[in-house]
Amino acid sequence: MSIVSMPELLARAQQDKYAVGYFEAWDQYSLEAVLEAAEECGSPTILGFGGAVANQAWLDRHGVEELAALARCLAERSTVPAAVLFNEARTFNQIERGLRAGCNTVMLDSSHMPFDENLAWTRKVVEVAHPFEAAVEAELGHLADGSDPSVQASGTDPQEAARFVEQSGVDALAVSIGNVHILSTGEAAIDLELLERIHSAVRVPLVIHGGTGFPPSAIRAAIDHGVAKFNVGTRLKQAYLAGVHAALTTLMALPGRPNVHNVVGSRGEEDVFNQGKARIKAEVIALMRLYGSAGMANT
Ligand code: 13P
Repeated sequence: MSIVSMPELLARAQQDKYAVGYFEAWDQYSLEAVLEAAEECGSPTILGFGGAVANQAWLDRHGVEELAALARCLAERSTVPAAVLFNEARTFNQIERGLRAGCNTVMLDSSHMPFDENLAWTRKVVEVAHPFEAAVEAELGHLADGSDPSVQASGTDPQEAARFVEQSGVDALAVSIGNVHILSTGEAAIDLELLERIHSAVRVPLVIHGGTGFPPSAIRAAIDHGVAKFNVGTRLKQAYLAGVHAALTTLMALPGRPNVHNVVGSRGEEDVFNQGKARIKAEVIALMRLYGSAGMANT
């Protein structure tokens, strides 16, 4: 199975009434965890990494190329359909580098800009991405941020969304309907009526960012109202950290010195980071079941 375009993954999802997860990874262990989860439960998936949550100097030095190469390598060898997304890049230059490095979907972090500026930048991204046969996602409206109370949320206006999609040529649109980024506890209050109005006005698949705090009870209704992709980040890092913490606690309680080659980077059972990876996998599999994508890899 080779790498698949995101629009193709989302079209299949809409046809069969499920959603595909983008599970935001940050290194080799987390990328592998997402892909192994997808293969284990027979789900299509979107591999990738986020520009908004990584150190910009590191990304600009070689981080974009490094993560894109890892994600691309895994997607090409995947037994399930997988796309590669560079999510929420902070700069246009990073977008260009992500495309050259093999990401087949890109998104610029431009939803905080006024409408016209967001539209102009998104058009530029479409112009540079489509010749690479890469897809573009953009966000209209802005999400609240669970880690920063100063961030003001603004809901997506359905008429503006229709104009934005038509004039930008984007392939998928992320919306703000009460969903919250980086909600480390609790659930967001979702406005399904607003989602329904956006869905009636817009033709492209809709995307929900802030998958961590999205209430499971609203997932089915969201899919029925045009959502074909959920982005999940925070809860994967929480799971990873809990796994590494548990592994280190056990290790430190053992008598004698650990064999460092076994516990760091061996990928064997004693590798403490592998235990974090196992927690990510479990989390991703549970979400793939909730999104209805489990078992849909070959449909
Ligand atoms: P969470 O971290 O809230 O799950 O959101 C992730 C996300 O939307 C990445 O684009």
